[in-house]
Amino acid sequence: MSLKHYLQFSDLTADEYAYLFERAALIKKKFKAYDKHQTLTDRTLAMIFEKASTRTRVSFEAGMYQLGGSVVHLTTGDSQLGRAEPIEDSARVISRMVDLVMIRTYEQTKIERFAEHSRVPVINGLTNEFHPCQILADIFTFIEHRGSIRGKTVAWVGDGNNMANTWLQAAELLGFTVHLSTPSGYEVDQAVAGVRSHDAYKVFKDPMQACEGADLVTTDVWTSMGFEAENEARKAAFADWCVDTEMMRVARPDALFMHCLPAHRGEEVQADVIDGPQSVVWDEAENRLHVQKALMEYLLLGRIQ
Ligand code: CP
Ligand code: NVA
Repeated sequence: MSLKHYLQFSDLTADEYAYLFERAALIKKKFKAYDKHQTLTDRTLAMIFEKASTRTRVSFEAGMYQLGGSVVHLTTGDSQLGRAEPIEDSARVISRMVDLVMIRTYEQTKIERFAEHSRVPVINGLTNEFHPCQILADIFTFIEHRGSIRGKTVAWVGDGNNMANTWLQAAELLGFTVHLSTPSGYEVDQAVAGVRSHDAYKVFKDPMQACEGADLVTTDVWTSMGFEAENEARKAAFADWCVDTEMMRVARPDALFMHCLPAHRGEEVQADVIDGPQSVVWDEAENRLHVQKALMEYLLLGRIQ
């Protein structure tokens, strides 16, 4: 099988996503039934974290063990990565010893350089620019609750960040629309998001307008990891970008609410929304496990019929 990386959402085709969603559903069903699913016996995943994590760490680590494999956990602080060993050399070495690498880091160029020198598939576990594994889980969650996302409207309220960029790539690829509302100065940059055209998204100044008629309302922290120095300025700029019950009221009556977590109640989302009946955030978090198991299996073994 030819070497395949998952560095951004657009690295896979709509057809490959259809397979992954089906496969993830099967893997989830077996997991719930305590039915062993060990397709990656004796394979090893290296996980490299240059930023903090709860969900990504637990879902990749538990997932790899459940598939019959094992994991190596590295951070900047406890490896030579923090002592300026070139990323290219780290890639050459690590990829001779393991079968798969997951990286959470800062610039997308870092993960690209790693992948360029890696003998094994590399998965993006979050960069400043993208968070493809999260959107994979989010769309799987939407499908579980509401069926196909094609033709639907997703309202993004908040920062034009890694999550927003990835939603745009997914919309372009899978045929839905994103209504984007960000404070001024925090807009999505189409070139950074890596989307070809404006067709899959519409920009709204007013977050209420972005939510009108949406099938899914979603948001994220005001300050992403790596941007902490801007925290105070962001708190002032984002004050009106808090998903509240009014925004949910103008969305479709059956609209879902998602948040990749961790969340700050009272900042980007009201407690009544994230803890309310339209919120599917716990399913969304759990689904990281199932979709990533399908993804790891796919990158190493291809389609299994
Ligand atoms: N959503 C997400 O990636 O969570 P963590 O930062 O806890 O991994
Ligand atoms: N946008 C957030 C997502 C955290 C999972 C960040 O990059 O910190």
